[in-house]
Amino acid sequence: MAEIAAPRGTRDILPDEFAARRWLLDTHRTVAESFGYRSIETPVFEATELFSRGVGAETDIVEKQMFTFDDRGGRSLTLRPEGTAGALRAVLGAHLDQSVRPVRVQYEGPFFRAERPQAGRQHQFTQVGIECIGERSAGLDAEIIEVAWRFFEALGIRDIRLQVNSLGSTEDRARYRAALLAYYTPLEASLCDDCRRRLHTNPLRLLDCKRDIALVERAPLLWDSLDASSREHFTAVVRDLEAAGIDAIRNDRIVRGLDYYGDTVFELWHDTLQGAQSSLGGGGRYDGLAELIGFPATPATGYALGVERILMVARALGTVPAAAPAVAALVCSVEPAQAEDAASAARALRGRGVRTVLDVTERRLDRKLRAAGRIGARVAVIIGENEQTEASAMVRDLDERSQQTVPLAELTETVLRILGAVA
Ligand code: HAM
Repeated sequence: MAEIAAPRGTRDILPDEFAARRWLLDTHRTVAESFGYRSIETPVFEATELFSRGVGAETDIVEKQMFTFDDRGGRSLTLRPEGTAGALRAVLGAHLDQSVRPVRVQYEGPFFRAERPQAGRQHQFTQVGIECIGERSAGLDAEIIEVAWRFFEALGIRDIRLQVNSLGSTEDRARYRAALLAYYTPLEASLCDDCRRRLHTNPLRLLDCKRDIALVERAPLLWDSLDASSREHFTAVVRDLEAAGIDAIRNDRIVRGLDYYGDTVFELWHDTLQGAQSSLGGGGRYDGLAELIGFPATPATGYALGVERILMVARALGTVPAAAPAVAALVCSVEPAQAEDAASAARALRGRGVRTVLDVTERRLDRKLRAAGRIGARVAVIIGENEQTEASAMVRDLDERSQQTVPLAELTETVLRILGAVA
């Protein structure tokens, strides 16, 4: 029978990579916690409407990239393509914003988009993110960007390119849409198919075109459509970032691929990843999303970062720490007659926090010892006939190539001393 492979666009995370991911996820959680963000977890699938209404029916994500299916009762469900709508639903649904505002949450987990798979772009990928829900302030927009910035610093990743922009208010965007229509409509015949469609459905996305770049460069500037209070908000964000020592590049063309944004938006890049699919993350303010998904109007801001892409950068820069050996000790008997003694010695070691593998095979002793080296154990504990009779164990230091026989009562102390855990 044919081997069954992992589905297209998915990847298995094997132990070596798992350790690197754990490092990244733990670092993100620790940095977010240092700003007062608390972890949440929301379902991996949601009502399809959460995304069609929240992310926007005319976005690429909703139009082309969702894994949608009916449950047994005929309700349409979707594997979450992003985490903001679900996090907001969870926080507002539980009224967390009624006791503290803003509510600061962080999350990590799998997300799903049916994009054409390639390096750094998968059907199932992992995001870490934070959402700050319940207040509208430029200071909070700057705060979330600072969390991302400190996270990259903690990973040892320098030279992050942070691009910021303001999409302004609903009225500003309506003005800008009109300006874009006035500019693009006479050019309609020369536009690519995607852009012709965007012209009628979502003109802001015209700025994302990778083909008609010269047209994009001459397009009206979003900044020119912003009113005084939108400009003031954005200027305050930029000022706060400067005060925090964060280098932000203003880019008038950042419009983001999700419809729920207004005011501050940003994206993070690193030069080791090239191409359109290379953004490490992005986010911004989404004061209008709560109402779109049926809740009272609630201002909020947040970001999400792509874990697989960040790991690619960390690997390229060599900042991933070496994984600690998974196993510290291997315990084995010389013959089956000592198997029980070996098992109880292993239990005693684990009881003191020593990661211990019990070798229950009937291989020859030299084979067992070779296996101990292969799994990274520093110490081998051997119990043969003599040791069994004398209630002792032979302890071999595989690094120093030395060995000693110690009473069982002293076994754990001896092993801990070799491991450097006890002076
Ligand atoms: P997003 O820009 O759509 O934002 O996704 C954030 C990051 O997720 C991307 O920059 C990228 O690193 C990663 N990513 C997206 N799609 C894929 C894929 N197919 N394969 C691998 N990585 C991918 C959001 O999702 C918003 N929810 C961010 C946000 C939070 N805004 C406010 N709060």
